[in-house]
Amino acid sequence: MTAHRPPPEILRPTTPEERRRAVGKAADMILHGGLVAIPTETVYGLAADATSDRAVARIFGAKRRPSFNPLIVHVSGLAMARAHVEFTPLAEKLASAFWPGPLTLVLQRKSDSAVSLLASAGLGTLAVRAPNSEIARELIRACGVPLAAPSANVSGTVSPTTADHVRESLAGRISLIIDGGPCRVGVESTIVKIEDEKLLLLRPGGVPSEAIVRVAGARPSESAGRLIEAPGMLESHYAPSARLRLNAKFPYADEAFLAFGATEDHPHTLNLSDSGDLVEAAAKLFAHLRTLDRICAERRLAGIAAAAIPGEGIGEAINDRLKRAAAPRN
Ligand code: TXA
Ligand code: MG
Repeated sequence: MTAHRPPPEILRPTTPEERRRAVGKAADMILHGGLVAIPTETVYGLAADATSDRAVARIFGAKRRPSFNPLIVHVSGLAMARAHVEFTPLAEKLASAFWPGPLTLVLQRKSDSAVSLLASAGLGTLAVRAPNSEIARELIRACGVPLAAPSANVSGTVSPTTADHVRESLAGRISLIIDGGPCRVGVESTIVKIEDEKLLLLRPGGVPSEAIVRVAGARPSESAGRLIEAPGMLESHYAPSARLRLNAKFPYADEAFLAFGATEDHPHTLNLSDSGDLVEAAAKLFAHLRTLDRICAERRLAGIAAAAIPGEGIGEAINDRLKRAAAPRN
């Protein structure tokens, strides 16, 4: 039994002054070991002081996340990251090209890093990223420590791209959400591991593989078939409650429809992008999955049918999330 807790406070700063105050309040809570949900450009994160074992343990508790699944540590930039991980020439190149932004680098952890061992689940590596949202950046600077932040949802469920999604998922488990509006990118960061100056793609995401190839000069190998050391990878993940059917040309009568591009009229349909724009589709993906999930429950539909999505650019990340959302649940 969990004790009844009041709903979380939601701060919606609109002016720079309000933002400073919201960030100040969040920093104060975080530096006292608390959790705060914050907007990043990808999805909302559940942030805590990455150097505090107790604070990091609270993240796992609030999300009901298995403790073998490590967290991404958010930094203000290269300088802060260097205190915790070993940068290689390839890592420098990628960070300079894509930070701040939706790229996470998995690198060797420095032995004197102050980051809690819980955050990296005891691995010898650490995942670092510099997020590109004003609020996240100001908050990291105000805290002066890296922030561990997984997506701000219950483990395994659809990731949050609005403050409302966070409230729906974690009410009673957190006390403060900073509302920065809908996330611009809408899918999580791309995660690459650098090992012996070779790239391994652990999770497709906000930075398309093609862009990474252009900078790195080499194609990352897929993590498939390797021992999975972490990523969003437990096969079923990002999952709505309703059953999800992929590559549907049209929905059956008892299905809701996640459309993409021009489509005939079907009831219970939401379109990721009428014009077939993949960037727009990524930004809408999780919100549409949540809404269709609710429609399925209300109308007692059999499930969600999802249209085929082209695999190029950020379409690779969209297809990855859809595949995991459709995977058999345990
Ligand atoms: O866009 C994002 O990355 C968002 C925002 C909040 O920054 N965060 C996010 O965190 O997606 P999370 O915890 O939902 O996913 C992080 C993924 C997990 O799949 C985890 O297994 C993987 O990163 N990961 C973390 N540390 C790792 C490591 N040392 N080696 C391999 N994978 C790691
Ligand atoms: Mg997640």
